[in-house]
Amino acid sequence: MNIILMGLPGAGKGTQADRIKSEFNIPHISTGDMFRAAVKEETKLGLGAKSYMDKGLLVPDEVTIGIVRERLGNDDCKQGFLLDGFPRTVPQAEALTETLKEMGQSIDHVINIQVSRDLLIERLTGRWICPVCGTSYHTLFNPPKVAGVCDKDGGKLYQRDDDKSEVVTQRLDVNIKQAQPLIDYYNQLGLLRNVNGEQDIQDVFAEIASILRG
Ligand code: AP5
Ligand code: MG
Ligand code: ZN
Repeated sequence: MNIILMGLPGAGKGTQADRIKSEFNIPHISTGDMFRAAVKEETKLGLGAKSYMDKGLLVPDEVTIGIVRERLGNDDCKQGFLLDGFPRTVPQAEALTETLKEMGQSIDHVINIQVSRDLLIERLTGRWICPVCGTSYHTLFNPPKVAGVCDKDGGKLYQRDDDKSEVVTQRLDVNIKQAQPLIDYYNQLGLLRNVNGEQDIQDVFAEIASILRG
């Protein structure tokens, strides 16, 4: 099964991707996670991406398309994949359609997690992440059992640089601008399904799982 998970920053893409990948046994491909890993390793890709990410801007299409194209060529994608946060622009969507065509594949489901702007700001500014396993927590909505510590592996939780309030606003605005044309693109292909992302995490997952199970 080939899936795209769409939604504005903080909509819960990563949170749901965690559950989808375990339930459906497919690799989770997050361009944001790939860029953050490259920033940490200080590779050329990371150094280039950092200047955009820190400002809440999108990394240029050529760069983003290149890394996804390469990643989709890996063997683990043969039985399906879950894209999180890609595509984010129409040129990225067109390049993805083209790449999959070359591979003899196509997208089966596009899930768009919908959450209002005010709630997104609350979610992003309260988010804490585990450096070991990448799990996202929230101080109010999804707290770890022990404050500041990952439930799964005891990792010491940190906040993402782009979750600072001044960057959050810019990130939301940039992504809101790109969202509608992308929604239109997948609507025209008859693939788009909207999910109410303002429910409890388990209820959002139940809605997504029922779409994926058809
Ligand atoms: P990326 O890492 O993808 O960030 P994003 O799109 O801003 O999305 P987030 O990861 O912030 O949110 P999420 O939807 O995963 O929410 P989460 O599950 O964590 O991208 C980062 C940057 O990389 C971009 O800004 C850009 O610069 C670059 N980039 C990436 N992809 C690109 C592309 N395709 N093109 C160009 N540039 C690209 O949840 C958020 C919080 O809410 C958590 O605390 C969580 O615990 C909580 N939460 C989740 N669900 C619920 C719920 N149902 N109820 C209550 N709380 C919840
Ligand atoms: Mg994420
Ligand atoms: Zn962890």
